Amino acid sequence: DPDISVANVQSHLTQLQSIATANGGNRYTGRSGYQASVDYVKGKLDAAGYSTQVQSFSTSSGTSYNVIATKVGSDPNSVVMAGGHLDSVSVGPGINDNGSGSAALLETAIAYAASGQTPKNTLRFGFWGAEELGLVGSKAYAASLPASEKDKIRLYLNFDMIGSPNPGYFVYDDNPAGNAVRDEITAWYDAKGIPWEYIDVQGRSDHAAFRSYGIPTAGIFSGAEGIKSSAQASKWGGTAGQAFDPCYHRSCDTTANLNATSLDRGADLIGALVFRHAAKDYGTSTPPP
Ligand code: PHE
Ligand code: CA
Ligand code: ZN
Ligand code: ZN
Ligand code: ZN
Repeated sequence: DPDISVANVQSHLTQLQSIATANGGNRYTGRSGYQASVDYVKGKLDAAGYSTQVQSFSTSSGTSYNVIATKVGSDPNSVVMAGGHLDSVSVGPGINDNGSGSAALLETAIAYAASGQTPKNTLRFGFWGAEELGLVGSKAYAASLPASEKDKIRLYLNFDMIGSPNPGYFVYDDNPAGNAVRDEITAWYDAKGIPWEYIDVQGRSDHAAFRSYGIPTAGIFSGAEGIKSSAQASKWGGTAGQAFDPCYHRSCDTTANLNATSLDRGADLIGALVFRHAAKDYGTSTPPP
């Protein structure tokens, strides 16, 4: 598995923070800070050699955009996707939510391109707009795909908040019946001696649209407004009785609102999953495990 550079992830987060600071303190849908975030991510993906598309869609706060980056695989009829939302709430810069997932996905995409591999499956990254308005961008993307394209998607991995300052290590409990990827994630934590818990986030992030079409989904999460219990503080460290992210949806969700260990582990897990699944032979099973 690759070692995704947490320093590089932090440098993308510094850029997203600067973008917010220069644009009224946020990266909210319909505002200049979101457009600048789109330009930043697209610029890095283009420079890494991805084929990128900006998909526009309408929201209650004006037009918004998804950034989609693709590297075609040797089997273009099989697609592996990973994504997260690029927008913030209106009151702050959204660095943990969800600069963290966006920056780790971006750095993984760059590292994959730098590895020089040709994926077996087509590899596609999605940076979603308007998640904070009700998962609008990811729903618009999934709805825009013809059935024949949806059928090619073997897996959608979602990353929304992976660097919480008082972190937990939560694994989406999606698709409990024989979800090989969920088991792969927990095995990755087990191998590193990191305790983990399942969490039910079925309706709360951008994997929901993919799930609704029967596409296998998985993801991780380091916690938001939930309170860390004393049992959780014993196994994970941090502060019991305090939120996993006390700055969730607040103006203090800045580059100071991150735990570097959580961010590094999350980025390395994304790297492991993306590199492995890009190369995986899914065979002809439908739906794939
Ligand atoms: N989607 C939520 C938000 O952006 C945060 C969240 C992520 C909640 C993952 C649960 C699981 O505010
Ligand atoms: Ca790392
Ligand atoms: Zn949010
Ligand atoms: Zn979020
Ligand atoms: Zn559940």
